[in-house]
Amino acid sequence: MLRRIILDVDTGIDDALAILLAVRSPEIKIDALTTVVGNVSLEKVLRNTLNVLQLEGVKDVPVYGGLSTPLVVKPRDASVVHGGDGLADTNLPAPSLRAEAGFAPDIICERILDGRGDVTLVTTGPLTNLAAAILKEPVIAKKVKLHVMMGGAFFLTKYGQGNVTPVSEFNIWHDPEAAKVVFDSGLPTVAVGLDVTTDPAASLKRSDLAGISNDGGAQPLVRRLCEYCLKSGGYLHDPMAVAYLLKPDLFTIEEFPVDVELHGSITRGQTVADSRSRWRKSHFQWSPERGAVKICTKVDGGRFLKLFMDRLGSVSRAA
Ligand code: RIB
Ligand code: CA
Repeated sequence: MLRRIILDVDTGIDDALAILLAVRSPEIKIDALTTVVGNVSLEKVLRNTLNVLQLEGVKDVPVYGGLSTPLVVKPRDASVVHGGDGLADTNLPAPSLRAEAGFAPDIICERILDGRGDVTLVTTGPLTNLAAAILKEPVIAKKVKLHVMMGGAFFLTKYGQGNVTPVSEFNIWHDPEAAKVVFDSGLPTVAVGLDVTTDPAASLKRSDLAGISNDGGAQPLVRRLCEYCLKSGGYLHDPMAVAYLLKPDLFTIEEFPVDVELHGSITRGQTVADSRSRWRKSHFQWSPERGAVKICTKVDGGRFLKLFMDRLGSVSRAA
């Protein structure tokens, strides 16, 4: 069954790969591609997102700009990981493709409330746009059946530490207030966090580059981005969130209440999962309306990488 999605990105390197995985997957139809400040400025995120689609020859996916700053604090980018332009310093020329008029949080609300049936939310950046949409129309948290987010570090595997601080993952750390709005809303969420995305078995190795051809479309960019991301571990954080939609059986899920630390001078941005066995009775953040978050606690790294390479190793193979 074709799954209609809204994909919210802060295009950087792995967001670009996630976008390409989504557009090359016949199981998915991107109803709206919304952009948010994160890895780099909103202006660069928008430019990168349009360039990725343009290189791939995709003209029928509407792109929208969103928030250019987190809900409360100032933006702090990740250009040290993604390059100054957010796309491995490829410094691509300005795209001829243009964004649509429309503000991402408004588009998220419209698409969910348009009566055309279920829409799945996939977020691969800070949750600022989604939080703004929920604040505008709280009912969307009850209408959406599935939100898959790349984000969080839950200490549920030995890989589940933070990547910005010892305890916080970038997408949450960048806008923890937004993350709290989303978790507090009870929006049914699957969290693909660092617990699985930094599993070495699911990370790119230099030997994988041989399987990435330059046979057209955005392939030269794919190869460049994969090579660049090897510098910071070869982690395919955002493509893994899309992979959850394509093959959920790649993952083991455990369900726990989650809250976000906003005030700790050392722990701000930490996602705290109450994994104590008695949590269903504990009062820590659990309530029927908040629900619990489905957290990925294991991934079949080999099968994930095979999916990634099958779809992104070559544009012809993906066709
Ligand atoms: O922590 C990894 C996440 O932060 C990824 O989504 C990456 O693109 C950055 O946004
Ligand atoms: Ca991202």
